[in-house]
Amino acid sequence: LKLGIMASGNGSNFEVVAQAIQDGQLNAQIQVLIYNNPSAKAAVRAANRGVEAVLLNHRNYKNREEFDEQIVQTLQKYDVEWVIMAGWMRLVTEVLIDAFPNKIINIHPSLLPSFKGVHAVEQALASGVKITGCTAHIACLEVDSGPILMQAAVPVLADDTPETLHARIQIQEHRILPQAIALAAYSSKTAFDKA
Ligand code: GRF
Repeated sequence: LKLGIMASGNGSNFEVVAQAIQDGQLNAQIQVLIYNNPSAKAAVRAANRGVEAVLLNHRNYKNREEFDEQIVQTLQKYDVEWVIMAGWMRLVTEVLIDAFPNKIINIHPSLLPSFKGVHAVEQALASGVKITGCTAHIACLEVDSGPILMQAAVPVLADDTPETLHARIQIQEHRILPQAIALAAYSSKTAFDKA
């Protein structure tokens, strides 16, 4: 599997995918990391692992479509088959979705369809749910929507802050994301082409 990873921030999910490949648990290569934030730690992680990293700053583009067009060109240039949005904090357009139909995987810190969007952890806390979690899914145009690949449940504890809850969720993200990539890649011919 030739993977392209898109990340905006810390990149711990990038790291676990790279580690799963190194450990022989995921039969894949990371062709390129695309990041949009010049200070994203994900870029440092890529450099440490010898993975090519390309900065595409959304601020340099007129609109989301032009930005996505540049992303698509970059992914194609690096011969990417599967796109992993590992903490990609930009809304995507049909330009990206249509270029990789059913081949974009997103990881999100809630049990979708609950708590879509960028404040999922805070919203779970505020709502009073006792269980939340994370979801790996095929990305569609609508944010945090699309066929679910894997989920993991995480308890919400009485003294949780957004930070402690997010840390507990991330342990599960790191477990399911590499598995979800393998699941999607090896079942795509049957299940997701119809989605
Ligand atoms: C994760 O919680 C992911 O679910 C969300 O953004 C966060 C990225 O974390 N979409 P990291 O940058 O991979 O550490």
